[in-house]
Amino acid sequence: MLKHLTITAALALGLSAGGAFAAAGEQKIKDPDFSFEGPFGSYDQLQLQRGLKVYTEVCSACHGLKYVPLRTLGDEGGPQFSAAQVRAYAENYEVFDPELDDFRAAKPTDSFPESNLANAPDLSLMAKARAGFHGPYGLGINQIVKGMGGPEYIYSLLTGYTGEQKEEAGAVLYENTAYPGGWIAMGPPLVGEDVEFDDGHANDLSAESKDVAAFLMWTAEPKLAARKQAGFVGVGMLVLLSVLLYFTNKRIWAPVKRREGPGKD
Ligand code: HEC
Repeated sequence: MLKHLTITAALALGLSAGGAFAAAGEQKIKDPDFSFEGPFGSYDQLQLQRGLKVYTEVCSACHGLKYVPLRTLGDEGGPQFSAAQVRAYAENYEVFDPELDDFRAAKPTDSFPESNLANAPDLSLMAKARAGFHGPYGLGINQIVKGMGGPEYIYSLLTGYTGEQKEEAGAVLYENTAYPGGWIAMGPPLVGEDVEFDDGHANDLSAESKDVAAFLMWTAEPKLAARKQAGFVGVGMLVLLSVLLYFTNKRIWAPVKRREGPGKD
C-alpha cells in the first residue's frame, strides 16, 4: 500500500513539474530589486507616487482598478497623499452616480474606474494573480527563494517586447518574452520617457516599468507592512511562550528528577 502511494505521489510530482516546465520554458522573468522584498521590506512612498503617475497617464487609458478605493491613496504605507491631494486626484475621474442618474466627478469615497477597453483586464489584483508563475521546473521555487512574484512578472512584461508583431484573425499580436505563449494583444504601453517626474527621477523604460510594477503590487497588497509586522509580533510571542514553558516544565519535574538523581538510593 505504502509503496503504491509513493509511486503515485512520485508520478504526480513528476508529471506536474514536467508539464509546467514545458509551459514555462519560453517565459523570461527578470528579477529587479524592490524595496518591499524580504522580511523587513516596505513600500517606497515616492516610488508608489511615480507608479501612480505612470498608471494614470498611460495604463488607465485602457485598464481599470475597480477594487481600489481612491481614498486609500492617503493611507499610511501607500502613496500617502494628503486629504486635499486625494480629493484633487479623484476629480480627474468621472463616475456614474445612479442617484443623480448622471456622471459626476469622482470623490475619495469612490473607487478607481473600471477598464475602458473591454479586453484589457482590471489591474487591481494583477500583481497577486500573476504571482505564481513557475520557476525552474515549475515548482514555484523562485517565489520562495528569490522573492520573485507578480511585480517581477509585470516588470518583465513591460520590458519584454521584442519589436516583432503579427496579425492573427484580424487582431495584431506583439511578441513578448515574459507573456505565456509569447504573443500578447497589448501593444508596448511604455517605450521610455512616457511621463515626466516632478523630482526629475529617471524615466527610461526600465525605471517607469519598475515604478508601475511596485504601484500595482501596492494596489494588490496594500497592507503588506502591517502583515509583516503582525508576523513578527506573533513569532515574538511564540518565542516568549516557549521560554516560559521550558522553565515551567523544569520546575514541575524538578522533585521527580531530584529523587531519581545519582547517589539517591
Ligand atoms: C491601448 C490599451 C492598453 C494600454 C494603454 C495598456 N494596456 Fe495592458 N493590456 C491591454 C490589453 C488589450 C491586454 C490583454 C492582452 C491579452 O490578453 O493578450 C492587456 C493586458 C495587460 C496585463 C495582463 C497580462 C497577463 O498576464 O494576462 C498587464 C499586467 C498589463 N496589461 C499591464 C499594463 C500596464 C502596467 C500598462 C501601463 C504601463 C498597460 N497595461 C497599458 C491593453 C492596454
